[in-house]
Amino acid sequence: MGGKVLLVLYRGGEHAEQEARLLGSLENELGIRKFIEDNGYELVSTDDKDPEGESAVDKELQDAEIVITTPFFPAYITKERIAKAPKLKMAITAGVGSDHVDLNAANERKITVTEVTGSNVVSVAEHVVMTMLVLVRNFVAAHEQAMDGGWDIAGIAKQAFDLEDKVISTIGAGRIGYRVLQRLVAFNPKKLMYYDYQDLPSEAIEQLKQASKILNGKDLIVERVEKLEDLVSQSDIVTVNCPLHESTKGLINKELLSKFKDGAWLVNTARGAICVAEDVADAVKSGKLRGYGGDVWYPQPAPKDHPWRSFRNPYGAGNAMTPHVSGTTLDAQARYAAGVKNILESYFTGKFDYRPQDVIVIDGEYATKAYGQRK
Ligand code: NAI
Repeated sequence: MGGKVLLVLYRGGEHAEQEARLLGSLENELGIRKFIEDNGYELVSTDDKDPEGESAVDKELQDAEIVITTPFFPAYITKERIAKAPKLKMAITAGVGSDHVDLNAANERKITVTEVTGSNVVSVAEHVVMTMLVLVRNFVAAHEQAMDGGWDIAGIAKQAFDLEDKVISTIGAGRIGYRVLQRLVAFNPKKLMYYDYQDLPSEAIEQLKQASKILNGKDLIVERVEKLEDLVSQSDIVTVNCPLHESTKGLINKELLSKFKDGAWLVNTARGAICVAEDVADAVKSGKLRGYGGDVWYPQPAPKDHPWRSFRNPYGAGNAMTPHVSGTTLDAQARYAAGVKNILESYFTGKFDYRPQDVIVIDGEYATKAYGQRK
């Protein structure tokens, strides 16, 4: 008989009744209850995660062997919670981004942390491009007017632009960042730029250039920038697509924002804590940024008075925030539910033959190193 698997998901309520493919809801349990029980493990699922120390998550973690969480409705697996979970061997993220788990604390205890790499990267890339359009076209204000019975064309048009011919940049050009660049080519940008530790492979750049030739009939400039300041000072639109870790926490702060082009737009679907929330809200309120949008917050769920729920630019627009939904389309849910099942299968069979890209920490080490040594 195996141990306990603890699954923490948001409650679906009537929505889960209406849509069986809402696999990421508490009611539908990623579709893995039978699989877990057939393998002799017990499954406990809950949405009661806060406040830390008093929730069902705290109680159930005490004897859980595996915990499964999502970035959308994260149970923060903190050092304190790990200390009170002596049997915990694995934390699985149903999705991408395991920053809600204290990875150093997991390493100290040799807890394996895995996620379903790639499962929702297309969903997020589409959301990024949508958010750029929503901001640049001043869609939200126009939509609010339509719903409210208004017809003030000038009031919308004075803040509406085309995506075409803009300089657009990504901080982080991995799976999501590159997919954003790919999709942007169709809008005929002036230039695409990226900031990353590593160069994009030359074939990846070549594909963007080829696509531009076919779609726009012109050469495309794709530039890697060494200094973040150089990227933000040249860009009309900046999107954040790097992970949250010690060196990206608070990366977008008052100082960096002061270097942005006046009236630029910023889109962040990576993690809320990469931005200093008050600084970004102030930048939009002052008009330094024309708008900010994305779907990631800290903490989650965001409190009712989180500054990102209410900021507007001096023209009453510029807010394109949503709750954390970009990576949890029904298509994405099918992919990350299947990915979680695969990870569990590797664990239950004792093969531990995880896809290398899914492993974040293992055997007390960050994965690239640990996996490099194992494979
Ligand atoms: P990835 O690992 O494929 O790409 C991340 C890229 O960021 C890599 O190229 C890496 O070298 C780069 N990077 C790391 N630190 C950096 C830094 N300090 N500055 C610049 N670049 C840096 O990851 P992927 O799949 O593209 O996801 C990126 C992030 O997006 C995730 O870590 C997660 O936080 C977030 N995400 C959000 C989702 C949502 O629903 N909103 C869903 C999926 C991911």
